Amino acid sequence: MSEIKSIAVVGLNVGRNHIVEGIVPRPERWRLAAVCDLNSERLDAVAEEFGVPARTGSFDELLAREDIDVIDLGTPPATHVDLTMKALAAGKHVVCEKPLAGSIADVDQLAEAERKSGRLLMPVFQYRYGDGVQKARRIIDAGIAGKPYLGTVETHWKRTPAYYEVKWRGKWATELGGVLMTHAIHQHDMLNYLMGPVAKLFARATTRVNAIEVEDCVAASLEMESGALVALSATLGSQNEISRLRLMFENVTFESGGEVYSPGDEPWQILPANDEVAAKIEALLKDYKPVGRRYLGQLDAFHEALHGRAPNPVTVADARRSLELATAFYHSAETGRDVALPLGPDHPKYRGWRPDEKEAAE
Ligand SMILES: NC(=O)c1ccc[n+]([C@@H]2O[C@H](COP(=O)([O-])OP(=O)(O)OC[C@H]3O[C@@H](n4cnc5c(N)ncnc54)[C@H](O)[C@@H]3O)[C@@H](O)[C@H]2O)c1
Repeated sequence: MSEIKSIAVVGLNVGRNHIVEGIVPRPERWRLAAVCDLNSERLDAVAEEFGVPARTGSFDELLAREDIDVIDLGTPPATHVDLTMKALAAGKHVVCEKPLAGSIADVDQLAEAERKSGRLLMPVFQYRYGDGVQKARRIIDAGIAGKPYLGTVETHWKRTPAYYEVKWRGKWATELGGVLMTHAIHQHDMLNYLMGPVAKLFARATTRVNAIEVEDCVAASLEMESGALVALSATLGSQNEISRLRLMFENVTFESGGEVYSPGDEPWQILPANDEVAAKIEALLKDYKPVGRRYLGQLDAFHEALHGRAPNPVTVADARRSLELATAFYHSAETGRDVALPLGPDHPKYRGWRPDEKEAAE
């Protein structure tokens, strides 16, 4: 049986990055069967650049094609739930950009739809794919790092008014949030991946950098289930851009390296407490096999999952944890109170955190 899966990419700005980084380098794994975008100029440009056999502005047309196995969504945030639900109902596997949804209720609905469909839904968290973060995860999973003490996560980026010329950005209804939802979500996922889950959170959020509705500066203090403490900060008003995680464990201190938009890459500082710990790390990583970076690594791992050789590498449960953190963040910032996780249907923001929705409901 052929190993090749047929994939269609929808939304061709970030979707083009999926093609360049994750699909084109792996012709033995993926056949880019079709591209889809409402913007016909963008559609034509990408279809021609990669010689894609089919192009369309109609999502429904894609879903009707039986030869397509996977729908890969790079459309704006507020479209994700609807398009994912339709694709699962049409029997497709789905890859969906962040944020997967605009509420925990919607994530739970997607989890149920995935379960019923028998297909896989993989939210995108490509920052997990880099050899620095992967080595850290292996060391932690092996129990070598020991008791988690404290972490700091800094997402200090820069966005100017030009960035907000794209209409869906900067507004609650269409971006679903600001620096927390769109930018820091990746590093906050890395925190969950390496030191999670979160037990409690106290947060502040404000808008100071650009003339937008959504937040662009946030800070929070977290208590993890393990008892470790974490400080998060994220802004779009930093003159130099930094993405940095520092995670202090009993036996190892980790500090992320890589580039601003790929902090999972090597070199990470992995500082052992002593020679004995260093020897354990060396033995553990002796046979370490590098992973592809970013979308390449994540799509490689998804391909393995589609063939039943590995679990889905990023799950709806991972997206839920990330959106729970965001929900708790917005709730704490609004009420000035601590919020305990996990959040269930009884939480006042289970159905969404957007202040515009709340106002409309009142
Ligand atoms: N993982 C990352 O690092 C990363 C980076 C950038 C953007 N993103 C996410 O990717 C998504 C898209 O961001 P972007 O910056 O590429 O947005 P964009 O607005 O630049 O591009 C989105 C494209 O989707 C098309 N589109 C919208 N609705 C559609 C529909 N129903 N059917 C077909 N095409 C449709 C638009 O015409 C547009 O070309 C967002 O959710 C964003 O948060 C993720």
